Formats: sequence, structure tokens, C-alpha cells
Amino acid sequence: MITRAEGARVTADDGRSYIDCFAGISVVNAGHVHPRVRDAAKSQIDRLIHASSYTYYLEPVADLAERLAAVTPGRLEQTFFANSGAEAIEAAMRMAKAFTGRHEFIALERSFHGRSVGTLSLTGNMSRKTRGGPYLPGVAFAPTPYPYRSRFSGDPEEIGRQTAAAVEDVIRFHTSGDVAAFIAEPVMGEGGIIVPPKTYLPAVKEILDRYGVLLIADEVQCGFGRTGRLFAIEHFGVEPDILVSAKGIADGFPLSATIARREVAQSFRPGEHLSTFGGNPVSCAAALANLDVMQDDDLPGRAARLGSRALERLRLGSQDMTCVGEVRGLGLMIGVELVKDRTSKQPDAALAKAVRAYCREHGVLIGVGGVDGNVVRLQPPLVIAEGDLEEALSVVLKALEHSLVA
Ligand SMILES: Cc1ncc(COP(=O)(O)O)c(C=O)c1O
Repeated sequence: MITRAEGARVTADDGRSYIDCFAGISVVNAGHVHPRVRDAAKSQIDRLIHASSYTYYLEPVADLAERLAAVTPGRLEQTFFANSGAEAIEAAMRMAKAFTGRHEFIALERSFHGRSVGTLSLTGNMSRKTRGGPYLPGVAFAPTPYPYRSRFSGDPEEIGRQTAAAVEDVIRFHTSGDVAAFIAEPVMGEGGIIVPPKTYLPAVKEILDRYGVLLIADEVQCGFGRTGRLFAIEHFGVEPDILVSAKGIADGFPLSATIARREVAQSFRPGEHLSTFGGNPVSCAAALANLDVMQDDDLPGRAARLGSRALERLRLGSQDMTCVGEVRGLGLMIGVELVKDRTSKQPDAALAKAVRAYCREHGVLIGVGGVDGNVVRLQPPLVIAEGDLEEALSVVLKALEHSLVA
């Protein structure tokens, strides 16, 4: 049981301290209980906890919408606030339908978009959908831009181009042409930390533009500094029509945002879509302070620096381990894909579980993901002390060695 936390350290009820290399589930990017975020929330609590944002304008909510318009890429200008990632994706789906007058979606295999019926319908992962079906009609799935396991061949850039071209095939052969939007995580989280080749998203965008299909970037997990940029889509030079944010947006306070181009956002009539608690002033005040911290302390830059060093260390440390299929990531969003051996590439979920248990015994909390449960995930708070990160990486590498012997 966790009773306290600070920065990248959490303390259990028995007094033991752990290095948190998962940040909740990739949530507290500015660190646990950041003093500026905590103080902003406390001072908001003293003034106003709730008033309906359906009926009234609230200062922190309006200020946050303005800040998000300034910091998000391209022409993303207007925000709908909700409480969770799933709710914000649902809003994006409805907004895309309202704007285009169309009704179908394309999502990616191995994706994860939430646990409501709509978002599970977009999720390309059977293990997350069990016992909840049948799901919504009108969703087609395109292949994942995942060079390590791809039905296409060539170097990553070529695989990126071919995987993008497959989106046009999906539109032509798997839909009725009534496609409102294509949704993708610019860097996949639950699917196993999958970074698309640089060629992928620009080529997809060109196809979407030709067919009048909107691009929804699901930045619920990869946003807010985690990948070394404030938003992961910035790495790929494309402009989404809708960007969805949650998790890291308020450093642990419940808040999500569906941020859209003005004309797309305005397809919602006032009051047509609503969440009672959505955009609560306490979470919005926390989010404003969180953005200040991100910018003042250049946390995205820190994620980029520490992340590339961590990738290098893990790659070097595991180069002779045949159980490590691939070490990949962007910024402090790092995955180590574990396999029975490098030739068969058969996923080794049991090993990933054993590594997580070993790490926890040795004072480090990590995550596990991937469609087959065989990817070790390192997504620490971006403020993690360099010494703590070094120690965590040593423990992960020792866990891999230990599990190989055991
Ligand atoms: C990419 C992505 N989208 C959506 C969600 C759903 O967010 P929430 O759990 O806040 O509903 C998640 C949660 O893990 C996610 O990783």
C-alpha cells in the first residue's frame, strides 16, 4: 500500500521507498506532489471547487483553454474538457462525426483508446475487449507501424511507407467510404511502446486529406513532455485535426481535453455535449501550474536527454541477451520487448512478469504492456533524479540477467 510520494519516489505503508518508473500509469510527468501543482490546487480549493461550466465561465478553465491553444501544434484552438481519457476520445469521435457528417472510423491494430464502449470499439487489442462485445459497427483496423513485427519488409522508413499505404486499402476495401476520422496514438503505449517510422504519419496524412478524413491524435499517454516534446505528434511534422490529452495534463488530477481546430470544435452546438465534472476548476488550476513547470523546467528537454541515455544504456547492457528482442522508445517512454529467442521472436510474457516482480523486490516499480504482455515499460516522472534512473536501469538489467539464470 502506497501512503506517500514525492518526485519519482513512492513510500509504502511499511516505510519502504521505491523508485517509481511508471509514474502511476504514465500520469505524474512533473513528479508526485509537485509543490507548484499542489499549491495551485490548494489555493483553488480555497476559492471555488465547483460551479457548472455548462452554465458559467470559470477563470482557470478559460485560462487553461487559452494556454492549450497556445502550446498545442498547428491550428488546434478550442477545447472540450472532461475527466478521463476515454471520455475525451468519445468527445473526439462525436465531434468528428458532427463535423464531417460521416459515421465510420479507422483505428490501428494493437491500439488502446479506453474502456468505454466507444473507445473499446476503436481498440485493436482483443485482450482489452474480452467479455464486453459486440462493439460498435463502422470501425476498421489498419496495420500497426511496427517494424519489429510487420507484415511488410524493408528498412523502417520503407515499412513506414508501406504501412501508411495500407490505410488507403483499408478505406477502399474495409469501409463504405463514410469515414469520419482515423485515430492513432503518435507513440503507442499499452500496445508495447511502439514508435512509428518517421515516414508513417506524413504519408497517412496525405491519404486522409485526399479522402477528407480527419486525423485524431490520441496523446492521452504519449503527451505532456513524455516523448521529449510537449506533444508526441510534434516529432512527425503533421497537424492533427483533433488532439486528445489526459493522464499527464494535470500531474495526477483528473482532467482530459479534446482540443480541435476551431471549425471542427464548432460543429458541437453549445450544450450538445457535456460532462458534469468535466473541466473542474481544481484540476484546471493544477493543469495550469503543471504547464508552467513543464515550460520553466524544460521537462520535455529533460525527457529527451535522459531518455536517449537510458535507451543507449539498456541497448548496450542487453546486447548479448537473446531474450531481449528490441529496446525502443522516445524520450522517457521506453519499452524492452522480451522474446523466447531473437530468431523465433516468440513473445515471453512470463519473463516480463518475472522482471517486474524482481524489480519491485529490489525497490523499482515498472510497467508491463504489449498485446502479448511481453514488453517491459519504463515511463518514470520526467523529474526523476539521474541517480535514481541509473539505479533503476541497473535493477532492470540485473532482473533480466537473474531471470535468465533462474
Ligand atoms: C492512449 C490511451 N488512450 C486512452 C486511454 C484511456 O484513458 P483513461 O483510462 O483515462 O480513460 C489510455 C489509458 O491508458 C491510453 O493509454
